[in-house]
Amino acid sequence: MRDFALELEERKQAGLYRTRRQITGPQQPLLMADGKPLLSFCSNDYLGLANHSANLDALRNALPTTGLGGAASHLICGHHDAHHQLETRLAQFTGRHAALFFSTGYMANMGVISAFAGRGDTIFSDRLNHASIIDGCILSRARVRRYAHGDVAALEAMLGETSGHKLVVTDGVFSMDGDIAPLVELARVCRIHDALLVVDDAHGVGVLGPQGRGSVAEAGLSEEDVPVLIGTLGKAVGTSGAFVAGPSMLMEYLVQKARTYIYTTAMPPALAMATISSLDLIERDAGRRDHVLALVSRFRREASAMGYALMPSRTPIQPIMIGDNRSALALSQALEDRGVLVSAIRPPTVPPGEARLRVTFSAAHSMEDLDCLLGALSECRDLVTGKDMAI
Ligand SMILES: Cc1ncc(COP(=O)(O)O)c(C=O)c1O
Repeated sequence: MRDFALELEERKQAGLYRTRRQITGPQQPLLMADGKPLLSFCSNDYLGLANHSANLDALRNALPTTGLGGAASHLICGHHDAHHQLETRLAQFTGRHAALFFSTGYMANMGVISAFAGRGDTIFSDRLNHASIIDGCILSRARVRRYAHGDVAALEAMLGETSGHKLVVTDGVFSMDGDIAPLVELARVCRIHDALLVVDDAHGVGVLGPQGRGSVAEAGLSEEDVPVLIGTLGKAVGTSGAFVAGPSMLMEYLVQKARTYIYTTAMPPALAMATISSLDLIERDAGRRDHVLALVSRFRREASAMGYALMPSRTPIQPIMIGDNRSALALSQALEDRGVLVSAIRPPTVPPGEARLRVTFSAAHSMEDLDCLLGALSECRDLVTGKDMAI
């Protein structure tokens, strides 16, 4: 048998050991983590909707009629009217003909990629795509070619030398960097080379684009340009699950073929009603998007003036690049000692030598919260001198 204990010890030695904190109370900027109050800048609740009273009311009001459990998969007897209402609402929200409600973004990526590509096909995947996309590629058994991050010219060259069915998959907003994929250019080369474009906009939906419709809408791209659009509901939308949206025929194909839609229990239907409530808020309330983006621009100005190495991002994901694993952990710990929670992200989540602090903002943060973060960063400045920073 493999020496698992030794592997754990080696992880510790390399500064790669991961631990969990126990949170009590709802998700909000001021978190109770392991019994200690910490001001958190590391959740994906970008719009502060995870604990919004309207969404809680929608959940509570739905429960007496829907009951609690999903009880069966969608194709047996689990496809509740509430799920169907959400799918219709998601299609309308994304400007697509149809949508499907998946249990998680991870499952959506696994199911969609393995349904639309198989043995003998080729998948082209951005080098920085999310782990669930990478795993979906593996599950598909297709040939996988990774292109350099955001490098459309490299992708186009690969597409040109490949025959057969081609699928191109990319994050819309990259989860650990916060930058946005060159979507217009990707759509153009996919059209020229007859490749199916799949965009996972997990971190763009709710935050970017007109009425929060995401990075694809912001780029002015339609269903014809991006036939398969994936989004998660547990981040800016503040509830749980994910969706895939696109032409009715492709969504029908997924109902037949996506294993992670077919072979799993449907989500609690009341959650679908809470998600509809959240989408209503997102469409109506531009103030939340404006506020979170105002926090982002002040943070960028002041943190870079302190000498921190920020990345080219205009989204609520604002990583501070450090480089070395231990330095990233040391800065995270120093911030925590000052009451601020920002987690260190290390390989394999990011490439070796690119450990970072992934700072994220939420509309629930106040300017005073940002003062606290900036104050703590200012005090910790000397911990990560220029020599440690990778950028
Ligand atoms: C780009 C991207 N896609 C998919 C997922 C997975 O979504 P979920 O948390 O709903 O499984 C994440 C993060 O969790 C992500 O960052």
